[in-house]
Amino acid sequence: MDNFTFYAPTYFAFGKDTERETGKYVKRFGGTRVLIHYGGGSVIRSGLLDRVKESLEAEQIGYVELGGVKPNPRSGLVYEGIALCREEKVDFILAVGGGSTIDSAKAIAAGVSYDGDFWDYYQGKVVEQAVPIGTVLTISAAGSEGSPDSVITKEEGMYKRAATGEALRPRFTIMNPALTQTLPAYQTACGITDIMAHLYERYLTNTKEVECTDRMIEALLLTMIHEGPRAIAEPDNYEARANIMWAGMMAHNNSCGVGRTQDWTSHSIEHELSALYDCAHGAGLAVVMPAVFTYNLQHDVMRFAQAAVRVWGCQMDFGNPQRTAVEGIEALRSFLISIGMPKNFAELGAREEDIEKLAHTACYGDVEAGTTGGFVPLGQKDVEAVYRLML
Ligand code: NZQ
Ligand code: ZN
Repeated sequence: MDNFTFYAPTYFAFGKDTERETGKYVKRFGGTRVLIHYGGGSVIRSGLLDRVKESLEAEQIGYVELGGVKPNPRSGLVYEGIALCREEKVDFILAVGGGSTIDSAKAIAAGVSYDGDFWDYYQGKVVEQAVPIGTVLTISAAGSEGSPDSVITKEEGMYKRAATGEALRPRFTIMNPALTQTLPAYQTACGITDIMAHLYERYLTNTKEVECTDRMIEALLLTMIHEGPRAIAEPDNYEARANIMWAGMMAHNNSCGVGRTQDWTSHSIEHELSALYDCAHGAGLAVVMPAVFTYNLQHDVMRFAQAAVRVWGCQMDFGNPQRTAVEGIEALRSFLISIGMPKNFAELGAREEDIEKLAHTACYGDVEAGTTGGFVPLGQKDVEAVYRLML
């Protein structure tokens, strides 16, 4: 295990009706004037936004609102939010929604405290200062509710990039699993896929002797395999939703990723797809993951075989571990298809003729790295080959 530090000070309030306490938590964490940030309207339709506002009013906390965050959130609204917060002297940002809303709120929070262009943070500058944020989560997926990361798409060039920094971790997060019961099955499945991807990105490591975090990841993957189909078949199943919600947070607050190198190839390759085609991040990952794993299989056959045996219940073939490893990847692929995820480029709405451009942006983008991925650094030609496996 590698050396590490871990500090994840988000305060979680989990369970039924917890959103009614939002105002109390804003007050506890020092907010006196709030920006309420939300998406395309699901929180209005469900009545959640009204409940959150009531809880702020009950604590005499003033607020302004900025809705309209789109899935795969864009830089334009971030600039608008930064200007609004400065004008209104906002000292706390409350994201009510999913990963896109939370990420947009984080970008605004970082931008308000910074004299330069907030996009600097999405080109490698670490966020060290930000306006405090809190979240009321409505979808189990991105894990942004407990993570120090934010992913934004810059409209100019359609670069989808991530920023990170401990200052971005939410001060508090309200998690009421019942709020996710209104999700369409497709969005639930996208979330399940994303959560599983966050686990795989950490599982694919070059660090030896990481049994504790390996086992934690396996437990969370098994939870998703058990609870995911239940939540899709019975959208109102509170217990299934609750288990998925907590698993989704733990999959990405990095408690499972400490002390080990991580991969993130699938995310990098997927981000190009959701930037260009505006597909759901989870749907993109469903197509990307089996292809990346197949391409990288030879790098560490035993790691894939271990996942196959421990997570997917495959029988270890000691004479031919590669057969077991492939069986595990195929089990993942079948599972994702069974919950309604797309299986190839065409179903995702992606085009073969874009492959070169996609691979180039994944490896170079607006930061000249040249490769992507931590498990096996892939160059542009490799990434093109991975995209071809998705056809
Ligand atoms: O916009 P509204 O109307 O709220 O509708 C949303 C949106 O259309 C809807 N929705 C959310 N909660 C709902 C609901 N509909 C009905 N009932 C509810 N309770 O679902 C749609 C998707 O929402 P979004 O916020 O986009 O989903 P998600 O949480 O999957 O976020 C995706 C974004 O997070 C990024 C992704 O790249 C993508 O941009 N990620 C962020 C990460 C992070 N910050 O740590 C890590 C992830 O790997 C990921 O990259
Ligand atoms: Zn993700």
